[in-house]
Amino acid sequence: ALPRDLDGLRVVVSAGGTREPLDPVRHLGNRSSGKQGYALARVAAQRGAHVTLVTAHTDALPEPAGADVVHVSTANQLGEAVGAAAATADVVVMAAAVADFRPAGTSGHKIKKSDDTPDPTINLVRNPDILAGLVERRERGQVIVGFAAETGDEQGSVLEHARAKLKRKGCDLLVVNAVGEGKAFEMDENTGWLLSADGAEQRIPLGTKSLLAATVWDAVTELLRRRPDP
Ligand code: PMT
Repeated sequence: ALPRDLDGLRVVVSAGGTREPLDPVRHLGNRSSGKQGYALARVAAQRGAHVTLVTAHTDALPEPAGADVVHVSTANQLGEAVGAAAATADVVVMAAAVADFRPAGTSGHKIKKSDDTPDPTINLVRNPDILAGLVERRERGQVIVGFAAETGDEQGSVLEHARAKLKRKGCDLLVVNAVGEGKAFEMDENTGWLLSADGAEQRIPLGTKSLLAATVWDAVTELLRRRPDP
């Protein structure tokens, strides 16, 4: 049996991939299946937490038993729903893959192709950084967990990017996923690192997304044990 160590705790988990509409039939999206976020919500509910799952687009997944589920589509909608639930939450975990940019405009009708018009260009504008906003408005003692999907590039390794992101975003914990073909997105298993704002770094071995979720909740309970009395 799982420990009931999250008994009575109010947690918010975001999951899935946002969709930014171009017209009534097209959108910009990403490969998130929602499996990691749903596993986080399911394990938290099993360990006794009151869970609000804010979910963008996912594969067909069963709703985690006992969780309140809020369905959204765009990054702005996800931000509003997470923000509202976070106001009374002890813990917020941002596992959703949120679009950094959205089309500058959405056409009310299907964009047509005709032979005499030039190839169209999609102009993008920046979406709000939801995680950064949560950190800014954070309630005293609230624990905020971010995820980072990194590929590594000429500028640095996955871990180097993630350490910089943890500092920039100001969250308490950051789960780092190396992504790319056959990694993290859509798979049933996940692996990575768990970085803590106090400098601790833990390697998370390859295992089910539920196992990774359990590692995250273990780290959260440890932080809550050390948090100042309200
Ligand atoms: O859904 P699965 O198929 O199971 O895959 C899981 C996953 C790979 C999607 C998940 O484990 C994961 O890594 N999620 C975060 C993906 C992501 O958007 O990473 P990022 O490095 O772009 O963003 C960093 C953090 O900021 C994330 O917590 C993200 O939720 C948040 N963010 C990002 C952009 C934005 N505008 N607002 C945000 O709050």
